[in-house]
Order: sequence, then C-alpha cells, then structure tokens
Amino acid sequence: MNTIARSVLKSFTENFTSRPALFFSPGRINLIGEHVDYNDGFVMPAAINKGVYYAIAENQTDDIHFYAVDFDERFSVHIHDIESNDSWRNYVLSVVNEFLLLGKNIHGFNCVFGGDIPRGSGMSSSAAVEGGLAFALNEMFTTGLTRVELALLCQRAEHNYPNVQCGIMDQFANMMGKKDHVILLDCQSMQHQYFPLVLAGYKIVLINTKVHHSLASGEYNIRRQRCEEGLKILKARLPVQSFRDIKSVTELDTEKHNMSPKVYNCCRFVVEEIARTKKASALLQQNDIAGFGKLMFETHEGLSELYEVSCDELDFLVQRARKYPAVIGARLMGGGFGGCTINIVAEDGVANFIEDTCMEYQQQFEIVPEAYIVETADGTKTLAVTL
Ligand code: GLA
Repeated sequence: MNTIARSVLKSFTENFTSRPALFFSPGRINLIGEHVDYNDGFVMPAAINKGVYYAIAENQTDDIHFYAVDFDERFSVHIHDIESNDSWRNYVLSVVNEFLLLGKNIHGFNCVFGGDIPRGSGMSSSAAVEGGLAFALNEMFTTGLTRVELALLCQRAEHNYPNVQCGIMDQFANMMGKKDHVILLDCQSMQHQYFPLVLAGYKIVLINTKVHHSLASGEYNIRRQRCEEGLKILKARLPVQSFRDIKSVTELDTEKHNMSPKVYNCCRFVVEEIARTKKASALLQQNDIAGFGKLMFETHEGLSELYEVSCDELDFLVQRARKYPAVIGARLMGGGFGGCTINIVAEDGVANFIEDTCMEYQQQFEIVPEAYIVETADGTKTLAVTL
C-alpha cells in the first residue's frame, strides 16, 4: 500500500472507530481529442496512477462525516440536509445528492479522502473525487449501478453543485480505465475500444505550469455555449445533427457569415479536432508515433488560436517542446487556462528535456513547475485494507 493510502487509513482510524473499506480513484491523461467530448467527438484518455484514496464506512445513522486530508478540513451534514456548498464539499455533496435523486437507499457514513493529483493540473482531480465516492457508495449500499452509470452520475454531479458543464471524458476514464491501455471513446454513442498503449522508446511526460487562471470553470461553460450556439445555426441551415456530420471546414465556412467570429472559431476547432482525433487513433494503431505527435502540436495550436483556452505559460511550454528534438508531440491537456502540457518524449531525452524545460520555465515565469512521467492505471477500484 502506498504512503497516501496509508495516511488516509491512519486519519480514518484517528477520527472514527469503525473499520473502513479502501478505494483508489484515478486521475486521467488525454492523448488527443480536447473539448470535443461535449461536442459528439472522440477522445483518447487513460486513467493514471495518480488519484484520490477513500477510506469509508457506514455509521448506522443518517449523518455523513467527511474529512478532506489535503485541506485538513472536516464537514458533517444530515443526509436530508444535503445542499450545494463550496470548494471540495460541492464535489462530494453533489455525488451524494445524485444518489438521492435516483431514489437510492443510502445512509450515513464516515469518510476520509486525500490524494496526489495537484489541483488545477488538468489531470481531473474533480472526476477522481467524484468517482471514488460514487464507487464506494455503490459498493457499500449495494445500489447496483454499472461503471458507465456511475460515470454518468458523476458527470451530472459536476454539472449540478460545482456548475461545470463538463463532458463525459474524465468520469468515463476514471471508471473505465485499463492499465497499459488508452480508451478510444465515441462520446456520441458512448461506444469505446481499448488500445494497448505501446509507445516503444517513448515516455509520456506531463509538465505542470502550476498556474490555474481564475474563472476557468466560467470560461469552460462559455466555450460550451459558443459551440451550442454555432451548432444551432448549422442545424437550422444544413442537413446535420451534430458537429460530426460537418464534412469539412469548407462546409462549415458556408455558414461562417451567420456566426460571430468567436462562435465560428470554436466551431472550426471542433470540426478540425474531431477529424484530427480520428486520424490520430489510426496513426497510433499503425504505431506511427511521429505522425501522432504532429497532430498533438496541431491540437495545441487550435486550442490556443481558435478555442482560446491556452495561456502564456502553456504556450511557452509547447513552443519550447517544439524546439526540443526528443519531443515528438506536445499540447495543453484538459480544460486549459493552466495545468499541464502532455508531451511524448524519446526515452533517452526525457531527463534532459525535463531539466531544461523546468529551468527555462522557472526563469521566464518565476514559478517552479513540476514534471511527471505518467503511468496508466485501472479505473476506480477497491483496495485491500491492511491496518
Ligand atoms: C475538462 C472536462 C472534460 C473535457 C476537457 C476538455 O477536463 O471535464 O469533460 O471537456 O475539459 O477536453
């Protein structure tokens, strides 16, 4: 058992007397397909070995007691008094609320959680917090939900109290991840395939800008609104139901004059990114890592120029990566406005790349970044408790 799991269990026994069950709920990376999960696109995420650990036990009452180790904060609530709150409380309370909305018979419990996903890093600590609790409640109260139903429940939870109108990618990867594999998820049909992640001679390196520009969740919802506005215009004038039915930018351009520039740019990014992700998944299956990497750079350009979800810090890191011969592809990962870049780097260049990039970033922004060499992991699961 790793040190975080141990410390979560230790806090549990210091705070409560019952014997807990233990769960691990992973964060995720996404190789390509950004901001298209809520636009009927394809995404290529994988669960990773960083995440949130939950120690949790029923308490035979209707009171819920949370202790968030990473914040050193406690919160208690009666199960009939659940309402939206703030900060981490919104994520856990919203999950409980979704079980209640489904009419599931759940009761009071004691819960301690903590993890190692830096907040705002783009590795989806929020889905990890939601998924771990949802999985635990489903096990503890035998509510009979499948993993996909749990992912959808967590997505609704994130829409509700935290009010981030996210797509399904993060919660799906959290529940459905498979070690050594990436998921190709069709976000329209929810059909998915697993591909072995064979990057012979390469590593996936995340560089964390350690910035998270405020208003990010508001900006996220604004991007979603722009896409909805654009799609409405397209649906009214072309024989299409979703962005996926737009065959090319040329077809999109026939309606350009009906859209504001910002709405058009978002639509253009989405149409391009859906096509790019399809192409990228074929390249990855053919083991054409260089071709795949090129598309990652293109995605970044689109996210920065058209979708406008990048920032100086992320652009700096990707620009730097472009000049580094060992880097095959790089782009911002996740919602944007800060967090991490994802880089595919030739193994023998990883150490130097990390060292040089971190040094230059620090010189430029006076912020000490962090680098992680990522390993894939299974989706949320029960762990054995050894006290
Ligand atoms: C966040 C959201 C996801 C997805 C990404 C961008 O992580 O939670 O649903 O939209 O941003 O691809």
